[in-house]
Amino acid sequence: MQNAIKISKVTESKAHEVDLNNITMGTRFTDYMFICDYQNGEWNNPRIEPLALIPTHPAAMALHYGQAIFEGMKATLGKDGTPLLFRPDQNAKRMNFSADRMGMPAFPEDLFVEALKQLVAIEKDWVPTQKGSALYLRPFMYADEPFIGMRAATSYKFIVIASPAGPFFSRPIKLYAENQYVRAVNGGTGEAKAAGNYAAAIRPTEYAKAKGYDQVLWLDAQNFEYIQEVGTMNIFIKIGEKFITPDLSGSILAGITRMSVIELLKHKGFQVEERPITLSEIKEAHVNGTLEEAFGVGTAVGIAMIEEVGNEDFKIAFTKGNPVGNDVQDTLNKIKVQELEDTFGWIVEAK
Ligand code: COI
Repeated sequence: MQNAIKISKVTESKAHEVDLNNITMGTRFTDYMFICDYQNGEWNNPRIEPLALIPTHPAAMALHYGQAIFEGMKATLGKDGTPLLFRPDQNAKRMNFSADRMGMPAFPEDLFVEALKQLVAIEKDWVPTQKGSALYLRPFMYADEPFIGMRAATSYKFIVIASPAGPFFSRPIKLYAENQYVRAVNGGTGEAKAAGNYAAAIRPTEYAKAKGYDQVLWLDAQNFEYIQEVGTMNIFIKIGEKFITPDLSGSILAGITRMSVIELLKHKGFQVEERPITLSEIKEAHVNGTLEEAFGVGTAVGIAMIEEVGNEDFKIAFTKGNPVGNDVQDTLNKIKVQELEDTFGWIVEAK
């Protein structure tokens, strides 16, 4: 396929209509979108166009059988105003991991990164500059072949849209340790960023909210004992001097913020264990006073400090604050806007 991205310009940007530093993520969208079509076994016609509705056949297979995957990324502005991406190569890889699991075609990783760079460069005026804010980028792929029947589709669209986003949770969150519903099982799709995983989480999250919690703490399907994820985030727990995060056992999303926080914590001198961790271990650490702090990490949210975990049977309050969580969040935010040197090689300039 030819990789050159065709650009059709809008007559006037709407960026000036929006208060970028006072905006809820996902409510306003930028001027453009990137689109590419898959047919006859290849991706074709990569283009950046004015954001518009996408005509969809009512039999489009994604609507019926759920072949739909996505990514989440954020763009920021560097010291001299250059738009920056955070580890876009990792999103490209994970998108293709998800595509493979869902029987969808791989998208060329170099084109993924190039599309993101060009889109962000043209949407530069939409990138918020307030601390913790960013331009959220949503690459996604879905089956658009009109067909009723159970098989992999033969035509797909890969699209990227963008939405300015302020900081997500500004206060610590309470987690409901879910003991009825599960998010993922080994061998399922929990490791893929598949739309259906999120659909299955909606009702349990509503129930948790109705009970006064902010998010669900997802546990394993066999015993409701092993910790998996928090809402749409990975989780880190500090017991004594060590951080523990569940290992990628087949049912946990390989978060890019997760892998970055592991590197940052190690760089700051902490020991990080990627291993199974149970509710009982946390309860025990709470009782013997070694439970220090916990936080969730994800692209949209950044780092969300956890103040309580519980359900009808127990309650654990984290009372020691989040000294390390706050420090890691601050470091990540500063690397993302070049206030701190990116010694890890995570930042990619979009120009
Ligand atoms: C992200 O963290 O980027 C996500 O995809 C979560 C989303 C549901 C907001």
